[in-house]
Amino acid sequence: MHVAGREQLKVLIRNASIQKRVREVAREITRDFKGQRVHLIGVLKGACIFLSDLIRHIDLDTSIDFMAVASYGKGQRSSGEVRLNKDLDTSIEGLNVILVEDILDTGLTLSYLRRILLQRKPKILKIAALLDKPSRRLIKDIKADYTGFDIPNEFVVGYGLDYGERYRNLRDVCILSLPPE
Ligand code: IMP
Ligand code: MG
Repeated sequence: MHVAGREQLKVLIRNASIQKRVREVAREITRDFKGQRVHLIGVLKGACIFLSDLIRHIDLDTSIDFMAVASYGKGQRSSGEVRLNKDLDTSIEGLNVILVEDILDTGLTLSYLRRILLQRKPKILKIAALLDKPSRRLIKDIKADYTGFDIPNEFVVGYGLDYGERYRNLRDVCILSLPPE
């Protein structure tokens, strides 16, 4: 893997563990929505790899849509504000919606998305997050219904997660350390 400058990567979750856990989450979803259709909404861009693995293990009638939000700038720190860059293509009224996110961190992004999606009257709205950093939570009432892994308070990249748009292609989830400024 190409690593820029003095940045360092350390594997936190190996791809084999991710694949195993993604299959388990998909099985849970399949069981919870037996006989029904689920509409997965991926939060671009971080969730695209998780969503594409997850959906192929869900044994139900499915459909997909995407939203794009910006909450992080180029760096590691959240600006605290969320902006909607791309809205859904189709209505979610009456659908079993699962919002698919890469990581639940402060909770600002998901609480914003939950608020605007609930206004559109889905039958049900669930949240699936590959990663959860519970120690970072600012919005206390936001929880994922399906979580891949709880992780410590470290900045991670890979399997869809980026640092300044790079490293999304890593197969493992890795801790990124930057040289001191
Ligand atoms: P929240 O709004 O603070 O919960 O942050 C959610 C968004 O911040 C995620 O969708 C990610 O795009 C980004 N983010 C949070 N933590 C990390 C991280 O450790 N690595 C990469 N992106 C992160
Ligand atoms: Mg994201």
